[in-house]
Amino acid sequence: MARTRIIIDTDPGVDDAVAILMALASDQLDVVALTAVAGNSPLEDTALNARRLVALAKRPDVIVAAGCAEPLTPTNYVGGDVHGQDGLGDLVWDEPDVQLDSRHGVDVLRDLILEAPTTVVAIGPLTNLAVLAQRYPEVVAKVERLVIMGGASFHGNVTAAAEFNIWFDPEAADEVFKQPWPITLMPLDLTHQAFLNDEDLERLRTQGNEVGMRTANMLEAYAVFHQQWYGNRNVIMHDAMAIYELLNPQAIVKQGVVVQVETQGQHSRGATLIDRGMQHSQSHVLVGCEVDNDTFRSVVHQLLSSYR
Ligand code: BDR
Ligand code: CA
Repeated sequence: MARTRIIIDTDPGVDDAVAILMALASDQLDVVALTAVAGNSPLEDTALNARRLVALAKRPDVIVAAGCAEPLTPTNYVGGDVHGQDGLGDLVWDEPDVQLDSRHGVDVLRDLILEAPTTVVAIGPLTNLAVLAQRYPEVVAKVERLVIMGGASFHGNVTAAAEFNIWFDPEAADEVFKQPWPITLMPLDLTHQAFLNDEDLERLRTQGNEVGMRTANMLEAYAVFHQQWYGNRNVIMHDAMAIYELLNPQAIVKQGVVVQVETQGQHSRGATLIDRGMQHSQSHVLVGCEVDNDTFRSVVHQLLSSYR
């Protein structure tokens, strides 16, 4: 079967790391590039983390490029401690033997999308993709599919209304959802159904490879955050849902919707209004609704244990 050619637009991020390592392990996916964006941490950290992950996976063939350092409307946010100070749980890393591509991440996206049919997986704020659509509108029709982790119907995770990736750059998200590319959205309502527990972390730690050990150690910082924030150590695999969708399209129940992004609002800036009415069943935007966590967990273990 032909592999799906993908670019991952990302702000690693511990859950980004799991998503990226899953994608790089899969023989169903041809990961051609990681384009970094500011989000969980400033761009210089997210770009470094992308290089670290590609080096960890021993995949120097994957292009790594730095994209936008600021959201369309600049913010004072400089990263929290959800993913540790460095974005990957504050482990000790060697200098990665993978260099940054000399092009801007948005230009890498343009060049690679024009080269061959490509799916874009967006697991950070949508700044790079909004700039891509604004600067190179001819590229939009060439994107085979855009799978996004972001948004929420029921409850945000930065404010009551807004999920982080959309909250960080609502104007970019607004631009992206106004474009006609086929979008599949993985909001918090779905991603909170997918998590790894302490047994999973132990299994990763003892599976006998560097990827498993490091992933478990990265996830430890994330588990501490989850304990403080949600009252238990189950680590929610937000970004991995976007990759899981490509690996097994049947695994996530989806429905056609229309999404609007709130860019104003005294209390609701960054909210995603997901209209799930039947009249939108044929929409070019799908939203993920349900997933079985045990099947997902087994796929994580199968992929991450395949590293040598
Ligand atoms: C999203 O925000 C980030 O902290 C995660 O990496 C994920 O992309 C979840 O709201
Ligand atoms: Ca992310």
